[in-house]
Amino acid sequence: MLKIKQLIAQNIQKGILAINPAAELGVDELAGMLEYPPDAGMGDLALPCFKLSKTLRRAPVMIAQALAEGMDCACVESAQAVNGYLNIRLSPAYLTEHVLAQVLEKKEKYGAPTIGQGKKVVLDYSSPNVAKPFHIGHLGTTVIGHSLKKMHEFAGYECYGINYLGDWGTQFGKLILAYRTWGSKQMVVQGGIDTLVELYVKINNAITAEKEEGKTELADAARAEFHKMEMGDEENLALWKWFIQISLEEYEKTYAQLGITFDSYLGESFYTDKMPAQVQKLRDAGLLKLDDGASIVDLDEYGMPPCLILKRDGSTLYPTRDIAAAVYRKENLHFDKCIYVTSTQQILHFKQWFKVVELMGYDWYDQLVHIPYGTVSIGGAKLATRTGNVVLLRDLFGAAIEKVTEIMEEKNPEMKGRSDVAEAVGVGAIVFYYLTNNRIKDIDFNMDDALSFDGNTGPYVQYTYARSCSVLEKAGEMTGTDFVITAPEEQALLKVLATYEEKVLMALRDYEPSVITRFILDVAVAFNRFYHNCRILSESDERIKQTRIALTLATKHVLGSAFEMICLKKTEKI
Ligand code: ARG
Repeated sequence: MLKIKQLIAQNIQKGILAINPAAELGVDELAGMLEYPPDAGMGDLALPCFKLSKTLRRAPVMIAQALAEGMDCACVESAQAVNGYLNIRLSPAYLTEHVLAQVLEKKEKYGAPTIGQGKKVVLDYSSPNVAKPFHIGHLGTTVIGHSLKKMHEFAGYECYGINYLGDWGTQFGKLILAYRTWGSKQMVVQGGIDTLVELYVKINNAITAEKEEGKTELADAARAEFHKMEMGDEENLALWKWFIQISLEEYEKTYAQLGITFDSYLGESFYTDKMPAQVQKLRDAGLLKLDDGASIVDLDEYGMPPCLILKRDGSTLYPTRDIAAAVYRKENLHFDKCIYVTSTQQILHFKQWFKVVELMGYDWYDQLVHIPYGTVSIGGAKLATRTGNVVLLRDLFGAAIEKVTEIMEEKNPEMKGRSDVAEAVGVGAIVFYYLTNNRIKDIDFNMDDALSFDGNTGPYVQYTYARSCSVLEKAGEMTGTDFVITAPEEQALLKVLATYEEKVLMALRDYEPSVITRFILDVAVAFNRFYHNCRILSESDERIKQTRIALTLATKHVLGSAFEMICLKKTEKI
């Protein structure tokens, strides 16, 4: 549609110059003014002419009239002036020749923008804290992060995904203490991450309890264990490595269900020896201030609380590590943009250390981007958890897969390979439901809504994809190349497909996967309307039939491409 908008804008520009030869309105600007009318009965595109009346010093009605009369563009079927709007109907022949032909030619690459060519983006996402549960709070960073990566890749960026594991810190001291107190090798080998999480929860509860009694024995002991790690104690470091190994194996299962891979797992521990140089730089620049023994960067001038760099005992903090990691990434990966995806709770943290990076004189500070998202809670279905009040991502996926299996067994008892499909649809339902919302909004998760096969859901769109595959399978080889559009549903579907590139650009601009999710719904709705109202395989006119098969194939390509962008698996059969 971008190209179509450009062509129409060129024509409008001519019309405008005829009205006023001195008017300076660029083609891009005019293309940007073209809107999609809320009601398709009004046309496919519209230009609100009141936006031009000041420049042209004419009434909008008059401008619309003149532009309609002067419209002469291959992609326009008709142009009408209505109440100061120029309403444009697109030519079906043009849509078939350009949009349909292009989708068939470019397949899943159709609609790919080129804005990222030659640029590199690093994305820091998922990043769970090892030994703490991987829970639904991580769903956002994981799927939004990956979706942003896919989107950037689609637009030509070279992308590098980092799972910045929280693999260092006092939690390991706690875990080691808990393991030595209550655990055993055999227990952890058998129970894996669940045992680790149980131990972690147990020690935390115990520490809270002793605190209430005014005691700090366990807390001190945990800190001592971590201190031993920092000093290079081999036994503790071996345990630490083992705990990370066990956690990673578990995470990998979840990532595989989502089809997610990372280019790097370099976590917090990796940056330990990279921090002193940055702390020194801060000190040399006179940016460090002592505050009750701790070293801080004062950000009062920028309306923020101070950024904490070193604790009183000289140990480093979360921002210190992030600064060192950013510098390391810039020097080694040479990014043009580095994106961090975390919950809104960390907005201040990122603002603060981004500012510190700027104050340190790094001229790439403005290439750092924080993308926050709202919180997730669970309503509706109750999920059993062994770990107190958190819902593990794994259990959420498990429950969804179980439900989908039940539904599918009812609907289609004989289907083969059901467990694969149930996993794709179950996990897909959760992801789709989550990514339909604006990322910044807090959401309350409702399992029944997410899993419905009829609503605006993952199962619905995956089912639509499978439907297109099944039509194509029955159709066999596609033979036609000479297409003709005869039904309004065909044209409506093509029009939706034609907006793909625009939607991708919009999603990129706003870092907003929900733009793609909603686009997928628009395609699914348009395709299903077409499917129900137009005969495809039983159509007797061969040219019409081939056109409809081609439209089905085009839908499959575009849906497939968009599914990949939001971590949704392409289900050929459901
Ligand atoms: N591990 C952190 C957490 O779970 C998120 C890390 C985000 N990335 C970063 N570079 N700070 O809260």
